[in-house]
Amino acid sequence: MPELEQALAEVAAEMAERADRGDVATYIPQLGKVDPRKFGIAAVTNDGRVILAGDADQPFSIQSVSKVFTLTLALGKVGDALWQRVGREPSGNPFNSIVQLEHENGIPRNPFINAGAIVVSDILLAGHQPREAIGEILRFVQFLADDDAIIIDREVAASERATGYRNFALANYMKSFGNLHHEPELALGVYFHHCAIAMSCRQLAMAGRFLANGGRNPATGHSVVSAERARRIGALMLTCGHYDGSGDFAFRVGIPGKSGVGGGILGIVPGVASLAVWSPGLNENGNSKLGSIALEKLARMMGWSIFSPTAGRRQ
Ligand code: DON
Repeated sequence: MPELEQALAEVAAEMAERADRGDVATYIPQLGKVDPRKFGIAAVTNDGRVILAGDADQPFSIQSVSKVFTLTLALGKVGDALWQRVGREPSGNPFNSIVQLEHENGIPRNPFINAGAIVVSDILLAGHQPREAIGEILRFVQFLADDDAIIIDREVAASERATGYRNFALANYMKSFGNLHHEPELALGVYFHHCAIAMSCRQLAMAGRFLANGGRNPATGHSVVSAERARRIGALMLTCGHYDGSGDFAFRVGIPGKSGVGGGILGIVPGVASLAVWSPGLNENGNSKLGSIALEKLARMMGWSIFSPTAGRRQ
């Protein structure tokens, strides 16, 4: 159907013109080298269409978007026991904040803030060497996207390790509460590497398909997670996926989304499509500035809010 293709092309053309692109993250030095003029967007519909615009085939560092995949994998391993070690409430704080951990006995508010994702990495380490756990995460993402070409950018992982003082602080602090079962260094090794997975918008939207389709890969019909688990992951993305900007993203865009400091966002329109957008410049909450604006425009053009009575009809 041309409607979605036209909407994506219009959004990409508009974003290409904008001067106010936000600031590229520099606290991970390797991310600071990315060209802020890049913009890509991809939609993969449940009926199998792949629609791309802009730099949709250029890989970028998915960073925190990877936390959706590690959470999915960890829930598959330990099920609801995960929630004894990680909460599921929005934090209202920046992604790398340490302030709530003392009051809440080393239990991170949710699996998408850095502290929560480090605990998820610790869960994925059980019974493995870090190298094996990292390999398992990468293979899972390749499987979801049906694309073996997806890699981990080792330079980004090394760059983050070299400057990851806050994450070391978070991990050590949680270890002191007994909420890391492995040495902080090992859990962080897994964490830094999954954040350094590089994917294009096309690959990311492909990997998100199961969340738009009730937990099943729409191409094969194979179940990745139960329908209930897919709904719950979507709920967490909506309430926590943009950190202290999650309320604003829900208000403006109205679909579950997960951002990363590489400038990527995965968006899910349940029953309709998986979306990925990339623009490296960030807003004040550390979320892609133009990426959020692009999804807001696309969702409005397509009538895609999960709160809309017509959601799902237009694609
Ligand atoms: O730990 C970090 O700071 C990064 N690897 C990931 C942070 C991130 O992507 C936050 N997202 N907006």
